[in-house]
Amino acid sequence: MSGSDRRKLRVLSGVQPSGSLHIGNYLGALVQWRDLQDTYENFFCVVDMHALTVPENVRAAGLREKTLEVAALYLASGIDPARSTVFVQSEVSAHAELAWVLTCVAPLGWLQRMTQFKTKSDAASTVGSGLLTYPALMAADILLYEADQVPVGADQKQHIELARDVAARFNDLFGPTFKLPNPMIPPTGARVMGLDDPAAKMSKSTGEKAPGHAIGLLDPPNVVKKAIMRAVTDTGSELNWAEASPGVKNLVTIFAAITAETPDAVAARYEGRGYGYLKKDLVDVVEAALTPLRARYTELRADPTYLHGVLDAGAERARAVADPVLARAKVAAGLGRAR
Ligand code: TYM
Repeated sequence: MSGSDRRKLRVLSGVQPSGSLHIGNYLGALVQWRDLQDTYENFFCVVDMHALTVPENVRAAGLREKTLEVAALYLASGIDPARSTVFVQSEVSAHAELAWVLTCVAPLGWLQRMTQFKTKSDAASTVGSGLLTYPALMAADILLYEADQVPVGADQKQHIELARDVAARFNDLFGPTFKLPNPMIPPTGARVMGLDDPAAKMSKSTGEKAPGHAIGLLDPPNVVKKAIMRAVTDTGSELNWAEASPGVKNLVTIFAAITAETPDAVAARYEGRGYGYLKKDLVDVVEAALTPLRARYTELRADPTYLHGVLDAGAERARAVADPVLARAKVAAGLGRAR
């Protein structure tokens, strides 16, 4: 199907099964995905090949198990396999194949400039080359589905812009082949910060090491409550929104993103009141979202046949879209034999 005869615009997005998913992943990605399912034609993949870019973490976490966990969390968050194609990246081989082609097209300097590469490579003693070429694989994920929009948190914007630039460079070199994608970033909750350190983005890897950093989607209620009640605020005790510290802003933002309000509207209800009220109500708001999610997750994990069926069907649907785009790109790039 070419871009022009499609009925709906397409989205593609993914999460790395590199650790335990947290409320940042939920608000930055999953909630957006859930809410756009009727408007778009949707492809959501579990990007297990991306998780391999830090192989040291993979051994510890058990990647294959995490892949299933993340897929189940997609469904438990409201992704509906009848309306969305849910699949595992490594099961659609076109991703790896196109990633190689795009690695050849992406200038080294573009990859070296990526903030995430710089942060992750600074923190590691040995860096696999895949960590550098990671955005070329991500570009392949997106371009294979001719995605119009890529719904993600703010930290992925730079990678999507790179995917766009790589697509444009490929088109310049080899002729019009790829559609240029756009990032889709939610107005609230696009960058949730750590509860223990509001200067640092909430992250899966820190969450594994530091209790109280993240709100894990599968954390038990008492753990969630403790993390919120102990969240860093500031030396004051009452909410003053005009001068709120990053920690207070973060709590209000999480609240507003879950209840689909603006942070200003939430803050107005707590203005001049002690932080304890905000935190206590935030515990309830988070629990109202996570209780049904955990219940659905438990059901899904109890019936592996259903989940495997969804992922098998998803991979088949994904291949049907990705393979012709890959074939076109290979011809354009001169791969294979002339006939
Ligand atoms: P990943 O696995 O780090 O994160 C998954 C999604 O969650 C968002 N996110 C956040 N949003 C708000 N606050 C936070 N603290 C926070 N932390 C993470 C991310 O922005 C992302 O939307 N490279 C990607 C995965 C990927 C991908 C793709 C995404 C691979 N291929 C193709 C879109 C399209 C990543 O590492 O996301």
